[in-house]
Amino acid sequence: MTKKSYLVTGGTGFIGSALVTALVSRGHKVRTLDNNSRGAHRRLASVAGQYEHVEGDVRDYATFAAAAKGIDSVCHLAYINGTEFFYSIPETVLDVGVKGIVNAIDVCKSLSIPELIVASSSEVYQTPPTVPTDENVPLVIPDVFNPRYSYAAGKIISEVMAIHCGAKFFERMIIFRPHNIYGPDMGWEHVIPQLIMRAKELSKQSSSTVKFPIQGTGNQTRAFCFIEDMIKALITVFEHGKHMEIYNIGTDQEVTISELTRIIGRYFKCELNLVPGNIASGGTLRRCPDISKLRAIGFEPQVNLVDGVQRTADWYDANQNLAPAKSFVLNG
Ligand SMILES: NC(=O)c1ccc[n+]([C@@H]2O[C@H](COP(=O)([O-])OP(=O)(O)OC[C@H]3O[C@@H](n4cnc5c(N)ncnc54)[C@H](O)[C@@H]3O)[C@@H](O)[C@H]2O)c1
Repeated sequence: MTKKSYLVTGGTGFIGSALVTALVSRGHKVRTLDNNSRGAHRRLASVAGQYEHVEGDVRDYATFAAAAKGIDSVCHLAYINGTEFFYSIPETVLDVGVKGIVNAIDVCKSLSIPELIVASSSEVYQTPPTVPTDENVPLVIPDVFNPRYSYAAGKIISEVMAIHCGAKFFERMIIFRPHNIYGPDMGWEHVIPQLIMRAKELSKQSSSTVKFPIQGTGNQTRAFCFIEDMIKALITVFEHGKHMEIYNIGTDQEVTISELTRIIGRYFKCELNLVPGNIASGGTLRRCPDISKLRAIGFEPQVNLVDGVQRTADWYDANQNLAPAKSFVLNG
């Protein structure tokens, strides 16, 4: 891979920091741009002193432009992630999504940066007509009034802008759509950390079998991809991805939420009796990517769910002190 200088927006976030670590360890120059609303430099401890950081908001053009000086490639990951925020602050999710991509494109154009790589999401498929879902399935917003879709709407706008500007102004523009990435220090507002923290709490009860309320029946499926696999996939896309292409990133090992919950229960040595509940409006019953396109450029997932969950639960078990001060919401 030719040595380049990269600007990674969202670079102190969960995926961004793992990407920065991988790029630095391959000898690239990296600068991060992040307002640290959910980012943390601790995630970059292994490459401390080997990357530059600009603390700022991607919505601010001057800040973005200053961070992008002398850069060969902008990897735009900054976004408001975390399902509960889609419901609670949809207007801000869209503001960051739309202004972020507009600035990413304008900054690249004004500084003649030839490459733009954009993080989209599996959420753009909503309830896909085919599972496993390939990159050609239509993208939809089923209900413009449902705040849940603020996240996907911002991603769809980002994709469409990146595509039409990409065709005219970039040597290489690539979109990647991550599917349910998980791992240590991924944040607290996601399914796996919330299940882990609730299971840990319940496992303290004297009985070895405990009632465990979940959203839905537990038959919903996801294909959870461990962060190490995600980064291998993304580096494969950086190395071999083609201009104007879109790549799903994830694994096609589909699992039910019941099975995931059982794996987490076994980690804490307790049997969780699932109690079905309501599903959040706009939640999707089945999600699994078709990763043929990713396989064709050389990627194969390697970490199985049991190992990945164990490594994730180890981190959350040991770092509960870093959790934001609020109760955990139901998730499944
Ligand atoms: N984690 C997943 O499973 C997943 C799935 C699909 C898509 N994605 C996408 O991948 C990207 C990275 O996700 P992540 O899991 O690392 O999330 P994350 O929340 O850990 O990282 C996003 C980063 O963006 C930063 N940020 C937010 N608003 C900002 C602003 N206005 N200006 C500057 N920085 C800002 C946050 O501080 C954070 O560090 C995002 O675009 C996300 O939508 C992630």
